[in-house]
Amino acid sequence: MPRKVLYIDDDAGLCALVKRSLGREGIEVVTATDGESGLKVLGDNPDVDIVAVDLYMPGLGGMELTERVNAMPNHPPVIVVTGAQDSRMAVAALKAGAFDYVVKDVQGDFTYLLKASFQAAAAAMRMRRAKEAAEEEVRAARDRFEALAAERALLMREVNHRVGNSLQLIASLLTIQSNAAANAEVKEALSDATGRVMAVAQVHRRLYTSDDVQSVAVDLYLEALVEDLRRSTSAEGGGLAQLTLQAEPMAAAPDHAVALGMIVNELVTNALKYAYPDEKGAIRVILKRDGDNRAVLSVEDDGVGNSFGAAAHAKATSTGLGQRIVHAMGDKLRARIEHDSSPHGTRVTVAFDLFGAPALKTATAKPAA
Ligand SMILES: Nc1ncnc2c1ncn2[C@@H]1O[C@H](COP(=O)(O)OP(=O)(O)O)[C@@H](O)[C@H]1O
Ligand SMILES: [Mg+2]
Repeated sequence: MPRKVLYIDDDAGLCALVKRSLGREGIEVVTATDGESGLKVLGDNPDVDIVAVDLYMPGLGGMELTERVNAMPNHPPVIVVTGAQDSRMAVAALKAGAFDYVVKDVQGDFTYLLKASFQAAAAAMRMRRAKEAAEEEVRAARDRFEALAAERALLMREVNHRVGNSLQLIASLLTIQSNAAANAEVKEALSDATGRVMAVAQVHRRLYTSDDVQSVAVDLYLEALVEDLRRSTSAEGGGLAQLTLQAEPMAAAPDHAVALGMIVNELVTNALKYAYPDEKGAIRVILKRDGDNRAVLSVEDDGVGNSFGAAAHAKATSTGLGQRIVHAMGDKLRARIEHDSSPHGTRVTVAFDLFGAPALKTATAKPAA
């Protein structure tokens, strides 16, 4: 039930009647006998729960008053009262924003209708307030969530930045150590390790410079990786001058990008080391999309092939570590790896997943052989 209502009617007798009969029900009624003073009374009584107004009054009528009240912030519902059983007026009043429409009679029995309408209006108001409060709460929760998500993304970028810097530092230390090593085998091992660390560092660099910390643009990543490889070998005589990359734009999970980067690093390093024992030739890295979550990487050269001319050199220095890394990373990517080698060149293709199902990730997390 409403506690306090405002009843506006130019018939002072009816005002008194409504005040008396609703007063008996425990509802406080304030009254006014014209529209303008009704608005004034409403202004003086902000605790009024509901306004009831006579439709026809000299001066400011019920229809216009309804509109004026509804324009106020946090306004109470308005119930229109009229002497005429006129459905057109009822519709017009409801259209003007009235909550309800009550027809009065001379005996004053309509106060029961009025009371019922007040009850309904009070219940509707309570529900509207509860709904507004709930909506406000949802909004606040969403704002909180968005702020947290933004903060988390920022932290992730910060962490990736630091990891990237640290890996870069390790790569630099390995390069210095490699340059300082007197033994050729040690030199080579250290330089191989540098390449592997750089491949991982490059993913982290891509993660902190992008908005999205959940995925890496693989094509851009490979571009940077290939550039790193070119730069690191140019000091040793420009062996990768003919290294080319042709990659379709695509995104992958960061750990998949790392695995792919390790594979590219191994395959390119191998092509550089073994494909061209004499004069260096072309090395092509190609990345193509193959369905929603699948892509194919191939690394090709026009060199001497696996079991031919390079064998003598291979036997002397091969560790087989590269193949092991390629296959361990391939497992992570659920990859199908194919080697194709002839005296006219070697091609390795790796068909792999761009993103892993979370369950599969843990399933393939067994230690690499
Ligand atoms: N592109 C290539 N052309 C010719 N031979 C290759 C090529 N890639 C790999 N090989 C051969 O495969 C061997 C194994 O390579 P890998 O497992 O990476 O070990 P490592 O690089 O330490 O020798 C190499 O020693 C080499 O004989
Ligand atoms: Mg190798």
